Amino acid sequence: MRIIDLRSDTVTQPTPAMRRAMADAEVGDDVFGEDPTVGRLEEIAAECTGKEAALFVVSGTMANLVSSLTHCGRGDEMILGDQSHIFFYEQGGTAALGGIHPRIIPNQPDGKLNLEDIEAAIRSDNIHFPVTRVIALENTHNRCNGSPLDAEYMRSVGQIARKQGLKIHLDGARIFNAAVALETDVRELTRDADSVSFCLSKGLAAPAGSLVCGSKEFIARARRNRKVVGGGMRQAGVLAAAGILAMTEMAERLSQDHFHARKLAEGLANIKGISADPEKVKTNIVFFEITRGNLTAQTLSGQLNSEGVRMLPLDPFRLRAVTHYHITSDDIEYVMKIFAGILK
Ligand SMILES: Cc1ncc(COP(=O)(O)O)c(C=O)c1O
Repeated sequence: MRIIDLRSDTVTQPTPAMRRAMADAEVGDDVFGEDPTVGRLEEIAAECTGKEAALFVVSGTMANLVSSLTHCGRGDEMILGDQSHIFFYEQGGTAALGGIHPRIIPNQPDGKLNLEDIEAAIRSDNIHFPVTRVIALENTHNRCNGSPLDAEYMRSVGQIARKQGLKIHLDGARIFNAAVALETDVRELTRDADSVSFCLSKGLAAPAGSLVCGSKEFIARARRNRKVVGGGMRQAGVLAAAGILAMTEMAERLSQDHFHARKLAEGLANIKGISADPEKVKTNIVFFEITRGNLTAQTLSGQLNSEGVRMLPLDPFRLRAVTHYHITSDDIEYVMKIFAGILK
């Protein structure tokens, strides 16, 4: 059966060039700082995000955890969005493992946190309150239609943070998608963040790995925190080799994924029983809702799956589809035919 997997861009498989680079990678023990390929990947990541240094970690979740542990001590507070990946999908790890208190404020539909909400959430100096340390933002915003946050917004949050002596952590799991969608340089979007995490294993198609980027001093402390959560890898150059190609060769093509996502949303918007807004689709993530009363997201995803089309039911009547490296225009047309058949 023809399988079209739109559950996530994490399903991407390494390219043939990545597999060759992995086989040929020069490696060493990275906990001793002796893996030259990891060193090169970290240099490229630091350069690309405009930071002094970078640290290779296992996953986006570990990148966010290590960054949070590096910014905050136990009992310190992190301001973050109620739809953020850190809050929604990381098992509350920052609280469970780091004792970091989450201060949740609403994400707007475009993934932003209102500046007034951020300012209102910052604690004053009072013996009853935790100490606010960091504001966490997400770009692109996964649960908010994959929306990119622009440089101007980042600058506004940066001004608040600097005025109040706070740090900014940017969960930039899909920061390359944001830069491509906004036709800007990644550095424009990361300038105001003190730490940035991004993933190699999503739209960029590497098999595993994320990076944390920041000042030399921050990354030295983050390196210790990576070790304490068990993230010190040894001959990790085999993974870093694929990561280098992910960063240097796979970013530009993301515009194709965005084009396909838009096409998918336009097709879905024309189907009776589905509500989709193509205007909201700026990158590779499409959310849509079922408006036909007797059908749930779970049932629809089961029906699609039995026809080889995979999508994630994320809420009772809402599904998510994510375009990526292996999805073609022809696949999108095929998916629309399957939808038309199921919802006829
Ligand atoms: C915005 C965001 N942050 C972090 C992560 C976590 O990445 P990982 O699955 O590599 O832990 C994801 C994963 O989808 C994500 O979408």
